[in-house]
Amino acid sequence: MTASEPEINNPYLPLLLPIAEIIEETRDIKTFRLRGNSIFSYLPGQFAEVFVPGRGEAPFSITSSPTDGEILEFSIKRIGTVTTALHRMNQGEEIGVRGPYGNGFPIEELKNHNLLFVGGGIGLAPLRSLINYVLSPQHRGEFGEIFILYGARSPEDLVFKWELGKWEEREDLHLLVTVDRGDSSWRGRVGLVPQVLKEQVKIKAEEWKSIVCGPPIMIKFTIKSLLEMGFSPSQIITTLEMKMKCGLGKCGRCNIGPFYVCQEGPVFSYEVLQNLPEEY
Ligand SMILES: Cc1cc2nc3c(=O)[nH]c(=O)nc-3n(C[C@H](O)[C@H](O)[C@H](O)COP(=O)(O)OP(=O)(O)OC[C@H]3O[C@@H](n4cnc5c(N)ncnc54)[C@H](O)[C@@H]3O)c2cc1C
Ligand code: FES
Repeated sequence: MTASEPEINNPYLPLLLPIAEIIEETRDIKTFRLRGNSIFSYLPGQFAEVFVPGRGEAPFSITSSPTDGEILEFSIKRIGTVTTALHRMNQGEEIGVRGPYGNGFPIEELKNHNLLFVGGGIGLAPLRSLINYVLSPQHRGEFGEIFILYGARSPEDLVFKWELGKWEEREDLHLLVTVDRGDSSWRGRVGLVPQVLKEQVKIKAEEWKSIVCGPPIMIKFTIKSLLEMGFSPSQIITTLEMKMKCGLGKCGRCNIGPFYVCQEGPVFSYEVLQNLPEEY
């Protein structure tokens, strides 16, 4: 290629997609609904680098399901530079998206199994992509029973409340929602996710696979509960949130043990994770 020829297929070049809708989930989490699924195909559990012109980019799980038609969604917690810039954006403005990256959930391996989803806080975002994939009319028959346990610090920290109600109405899944501490209007369950899991999810572990995502401390104690319930490390699947930059296996920022998390992850079985260095 000569210097004068335009650069094509540049993997760092984001696709610009307009924001079709913004859903305020909590005081610091918003879901951005973009149109563009048909030109951006992905698998549940994959992520993308989301770019805000002039502010930079950051990795986010794709929370919509590939079965959702045109829609591509990200649920984003306001933390620092990029996430604050995203939270200031309005419907109609364009966001840059490059990807999809990562391995995604092992869908073939999960087929014909009962699935126990355990989510904490915004950790429901990547799980939601797989949940809606599994619940879609075209794939529901490929999976067994579905159990979803979801928890957040308080009722106002629960995300996707508008969808939890729809899941609750379905007869082909069990949903348990819990909060660490209630408030004056909360009539639901109160208790930490790992504890509610052990006390209230009565299943025969050998018939299930569990997919876990949430804050590191929740993941740690949820895995402990699952092991106590009889799950083997290979039956437990989780996702890692390492610091990332390129998403392409080039910069080395997300390296852990023999893996680049942006390539071989972010989804791992606990069987693999338990042999990795403690740093994650
Ligand atoms: C594969 C993957 C998927 C992810 N999916 C999501 C998602 O679906 N939704 C979502 O909201 N976030 C997700 N994240 C985390 C998200 O990438 C970070 O929140 C984001 O990079 C922060 O960017 P920033 O520019 O706003 O913060 P910065 O300005 O870079 O950071 C501000 C401060 O926050 C700290 N910080 C940065 N990231 C985190 C973090 N994750 N947790 C706690 N402190 C942090 C920094 O160390 C710094 O002190 C994901 C990360 C990965 C790797
Ligand atoms: S983020 Fe650059 S190698 Fe993974």
